[in-house]
Amino acid sequence: MRFLIVSGPTREPLDPVRYLSNYSTGVMGRCLAEAAKKRRHKVDWVSCPEDAETALDLLKELERRLPKNDVLIMSAAVCDARPVSVAAGKIKKEKLSSIHLVKNPDILATLAKRKKKGQIFIGFALESQNVVRNGLEKLQRKGLELIVVQEVKKNKTPFGDKKIDAWLVDACCATPLKKISKPRLAEILVRTAEAFFQG
Ligand code: CTP
Repeated sequence: MRFLIVSGPTREPLDPVRYLSNYSTGVMGRCLAEAAKKRRHKVDWVSCPEDAETALDLLKELERRLPKNDVLIMSAAVCDARPVSVAAGKIKKEKLSSIHLVKNPDILATLAKRKKKGQIFIGFALESQNVVRNGLEKLQRKGLELIVVQEVKKNKTPFGDKKIDAWLVDACCATPLKKISKPRLAEILVRTAEAFFQG
């Protein structure tokens, strides 16, 4: 099978010296790429921000790569907003509060509209409340086969190289994954994608 794995943080430049981003480290994507290779699948890995910096760059890159792949695993942390325009010169600090943001497109939902028969989409979600209910809503809205939902609290960051608490949600059930390592979670996701692929 051919796996398109997307990881890391996107970045939205504000001016030549500043950007908006998030704390994503790309560890989950690296584990997914290793797990898929171990199972002898072909891996097409997009690591943000090196391979695609902004959400719009990423959408374009994935539109190009998606048709050649069977599975899309979207573990990237996409910036939900970008400035209306990127300033050509450095913005003076007095003007920073006047930066206007616009919403970025939802990459998964956009790609789902062109999903080919048999393609499998797996997403990730971060939620601070109603974890399973909101995860299920994202699964449906983004056209996914499976979603990994992680709870985010003040002292519970989902990023980096550590064990996480998550729920695995598909159209019919929600399974708790307690204190699971990212390499183990990656293995489960690759095997679940295989099962979906075989129908
Ligand atoms: N995602 C995406 N395009 C975006 C934002 C997120 O494709 N513009 C993807 C993420 O890569 C992830 C999934 O959608 O696989 C859920 O991301 P999450 O940040 O939990 O949800 P959002 O859709 O951004 O919604 P909200 O921030 O309002 O919870």
